[in-house]
Amino acid sequence: KRIAVLASGRGSNFQAILDALSRGEINGECIGLFTDNKDAYAIERAKAAGVPAYVIHFKDYPTKAAYEAEMLAAMKAANADLFVCAGYMRIIGTEIIREFAGRMINIHPALLPAFPGLHGQRQALEYGVKIAGCTVHFVDEGLDSGPIILQKAVPVLDDDDEEALDDRILTQEHIAFPEAVALFCDDRLVVSGRHVKILEKK
Ligand code: GRF
Repeated sequence: KRIAVLASGRGSNFQAILDALSRGEINGECIGLFTDNKDAYAIERAKAAGVPAYVIHFKDYPTKAAYEAEMLAAMKAANADLFVCAGYMRIIGTEIIREFAGRMINIHPALLPAFPGLHGQRQALEYGVKIAGCTVHFVDEGLDSGPIILQKAVPVLDDDDEEALDDRILTQEHIAFPEAVALFCDDRLVVSGRHVKILEKK
């Protein structure tokens, strides 16, 4: 399958997917990185992997609508089967979401439906939960609300600060995300309403 990645910053999840691809763990190829941030470190990772980077720098556009129109056009032209939001830090407009419904996935650093939105890890820490984690889900029109593909849990330890918990969750993100991408590329995800069924390996 043709995989496109959207990222705004560091891109460690993007890297985890590139690494899984190069190990042959995902049946597909990364055909492009799409970023809203010309300074995203993810661009360096794309270059190093020989993946074209499409930089659609948000701040260069007069309105969010103008930016979204450009992004939508670039995404359509990519002809991808799957769009992977790997730390893409913008709320995606409904036009893009509708165009790519069922083939856009996201990772969120919390066990949804708890702690959607920004800083899922910090929200978990402040709330005092004992178990935190990450969620890979399909993107729908709500905020981190689409059907859940898979989740990984980690403990919250008494002495955790935000950095410690972030790191523990991120380690699991780097496992969960490539796993979910691989399942999608093998046509093993069946969505019905809110539920995502994972088919046995053929
Ligand atoms: C991750 O914590 C991810 O869950 C969230 O944004 C962060 C991106 O990190 N959506 P990276 O850019 O993949 O390193």
